[in-house]
Amino acid sequence: MVAKKAVKSEPAESTGPQKTFTLTDDQTGKSWKLPVLQGTQGPEVIDVRKLYGETGMFTFDPSYTSTASCKSRITFIDGDEGILQHRGYSIQELTEKSTYLEVAYLLLYGDLPNQKQFDEFVHSITYHTMVHEQIHFFFRGFRRDSHPMAVMCGVVGGLSAFYHDSLDIWNPTHRETSAHRLIAKMPTLAAMTYKYSQGLPFMYPRNDLSYAENFLYMCFGVPAEPYKIKPVLSRAMDKIMILHADHEQNASTSTVRLAGSSGANPFACIASGITSLWGPSHGGANQEVLEMLQQIGSKDKIPEFLKQVKDKNSGVRLMGFGHRVYKNYDPRAQVLKKSCDEVLDDLGVKHDPLLELAQELERIALQDDYFAERKLFPNVDFYSGIILKAMGFPTSMFTVLFALSRTVGWISQWKEMIEEPSLRIGRPRQLYSGPTARPYVPMSKRK
Ligand code: ACO
Repeated sequence: MVAKKAVKSEPAESTGPQKTFTLTDDQTGKSWKLPVLQGTQGPEVIDVRKLYGETGMFTFDPSYTSTASCKSRITFIDGDEGILQHRGYSIQELTEKSTYLEVAYLLLYGDLPNQKQFDEFVHSITYHTMVHEQIHFFFRGFRRDSHPMAVMCGVVGGLSAFYHDSLDIWNPTHRETSAHRLIAKMPTLAAMTYKYSQGLPFMYPRNDLSYAENFLYMCFGVPAEPYKIKPVLSRAMDKIMILHADHEQNASTSTVRLAGSSGANPFACIASGITSLWGPSHGGANQEVLEMLQQIGSKDKIPEFLKQVKDKNSGVRLMGFGHRVYKNYDPRAQVLKKSCDEVLDDLGVKHDPLLELAQELERIALQDDYFAERKLFPNVDFYSGIILKAMGFPTSMFTVLFALSRTVGWISQWKEMIEEPSLRIGRPRQLYSGPTARPYVPMSKRK
């Protein structure tokens, strides 16, 4: 185990004249002044770090609805206005004008790169795309019908057993090398996962292709013949990757941060993010949306389906709708909806029944009071599956594509956390509701 060493970081931003929030105990009349912190954007935050020490009380917020778990400079979301920015740049502008690797650089390093910085970054990512040959055998331990996310959890965690030269998390060069390796190798591993599930040969990466092109080539190319990449598909893939690159402190990112707060190595931390992303309430929703549309089957069945969704006892949710933070249209869904039309158009699909069904479902749901009252709008997963299906990916691969795109967000957030001088292991407390102390009863005396 490597001992923690001081890491250099930018100074924390000034919080201005100290504003406070007064907390009063109604029974004793005693009050405490809690500091109020102000970020550069977004709501003010009551600093409760000293609360337990001063009052003997914890705060209770099991699903973090009102809790900022960290300070971050990477991504900003205004859920009421439907705003998403990475390092200050709007997601709309980034998807329109940038590329995935440029956004990756932005997330990782804080600013857009100049030409030299970008060329060096692309070179580093390109020349780390191959995986250790031994990893090919690693795959063979899995059944071919395993869910691709199950395979991804295993092989990504397994990377920590291969790259011992970059595992000192307190060394900035090691951190950077691990980050580059992860960004570079995820498409290779994701494509291998797909090929393995199909019983097809693995395709080695090609350094002459762009990040998105190379990924499509490794997924859909075969050694027996040349593979021609359709520019519309690689453009759409690149956009999908940008749209999924980061989303501040969601469940999987918070998982990566919490895992990493103990000093765990970055490959293991990213594997923990993959497990969290897999769930249907999070990244697994893109697979569920497509399965839901297939289940609904036709437009005339929509009212009956929505009746089930609104019935609390049915356990049915409108997948791809609703978000913990967005109480407005998810800006990523808007971009994807447009991309969907372009991709299907270019592929010569005049009428895609699933897209038409999704559009009608969205139209009806948005007019329904149930969704309006709860501020439920389409999220990023509502349209992504339709594009991915049109590209030829099976539904089980959808969440893998999300994981591959989100890796840069996870690793940027992990790096930011490690570089925070005040880093301490994450350790939530609890509201205990179990039995109080009781004596042990021997088995012979138990009823
Ligand atoms: N369909 C039907 N009702 C819903 C939906 C939905 N998709 N989402 C929320 N609601 C209802 C809830 O039943 C609840 O109603 P109530 O107030 O009458 O009890 C209310 O809206 C609030 O919902 P919560 O579950 O408390 O909201 P939360 O913020 O915890 O959940 C979540 C957010 C998990 C995304 C939820 O909206 C959901 O399950 N959506 C479907 C799954 C999905 O698309 N996930 C992808 C999210 S985006 C991402 O992770 C990349």
